[in-house]
Amino acid sequence: MKRLTLLMVPALALAAALAVLNGCGGGGNVNEVKIGANLEKSGKSGEWGQDSERGITLAFEEINAKPEQKIKLRAIFEDNKSEAGASKNAMKKLVTQDGVIAVIGCVGSNRTIAAADVAKEEKVPLMTHASTNVTIVKNGGEYVSRICFDDNFQGAVMARFARRSLKAATAVSIVAKGNSYSEGLCESFKKVFTDEGGKIVEELAYQEGTKDFKTLVTQIKQINPAVIWVPGYHNEVALIIKQAREGGLQAPFLGADGWDNPELFTLCGPAIKGNFLSNHFDPGDPNPKVQEFVKKFKARFNNITPTAMGALAYDAAYAMADAASRAKALTPEGMKDAINSIKDLHGVCGTITMSPEREVVKEAVVLETEETQFKYKETIKP
Ligand code: PHE
Repeated sequence: MKRLTLLMVPALALAAALAVLNGCGGGGNVNEVKIGANLEKSGKSGEWGQDSERGITLAFEEINAKPEQKIKLRAIFEDNKSEAGASKNAMKKLVTQDGVIAVIGCVGSNRTIAAADVAKEEKVPLMTHASTNVTIVKNGGEYVSRICFDDNFQGAVMARFARRSLKAATAVSIVAKGNSYSEGLCESFKKVFTDEGGKIVEELAYQEGTKDFKTLVTQIKQINPAVIWVPGYHNEVALIIKQAREGGLQAPFLGADGWDNPELFTLCGPAIKGNFLSNHFDPGDPNPKVQEFVKKFKARFNNITPTAMGALAYDAAYAMADAASRAKALTPEGMKDAINSIKDLHGVCGTITMSPEREVVKEAVVLETEETQFKYKETIKP
């Protein structure tokens, strides 16, 4: 009897330790949890995935270095290569092989829509730091949340800016066909621009990957609108604007967060001057919280200035740490409840409080493009 008890104690202790390990994602350390990051580290949006990785890395290093931090966070990065199919596979690997208890990602809405299907099926929370398409969170259900504003807000911000600040009466909109982000933004801009008394005089389209926009430029020149709404990614937007200016088209172009990439300036050159976009973050914002973040980021990563992507990923990593510290269990289920109840978390891109719809309410900034950088114009509240 006595012998049995003695034997049982270590056996039970071992089982309990293993359970903790499993609950923590089997990290090899009882106090460690694994958080996945499904990111565009290569391919068309590679710059954004890399900036996101920097944001998460910096945040987890800071969090783990705090003496009072009991739960250490380990990020597992997967590259979705900027493709929806690969994003699904990356998500599956994180969930079924790497044993993560929650995932941050992705960058582009098309990839996040694909990853959200897996999150829903596998019941592992996916928190997008940057994907703004409206349908993602709505269709994703309780395992999918977002810590940035969505495209209904972003489209409205720029439609109001066009009407009220630029006094534009007419607009041509140009959609990136098949890109859910661009399609959603064309819809939301159209609705608010029209409600505000403006008129969309033509709706044009392009395929991503296009390099020659001369025909498109000729069409717009004939229509001669007051502004041109082009809510695509920087890759094509830079070429559209460059060729428009070469073709003598002078009207300002307006866009959204998808322009926020240093490549916008290198691909377009000085012709980029004098256009406008909405964004989540301005690295030049004098707010001490922003300046401290920019300083730390540059010191850690070779003097690189963070884009909104790096800043949002940094905030998402802090949101994961907050959720882990309050979770009833360090399991996907426990994390889901803790994420969905995040409240008053002050990040560098504003405050995160999850609504019952797992969305946040945040301000947007309107930026103007100068020849080599963005310049702050105004802040627009929801
Ligand atoms: N909002 C974009 C999308 O959903 C991604 C993005 C966010 C790009 C922030 C740049 C900055 O596809």
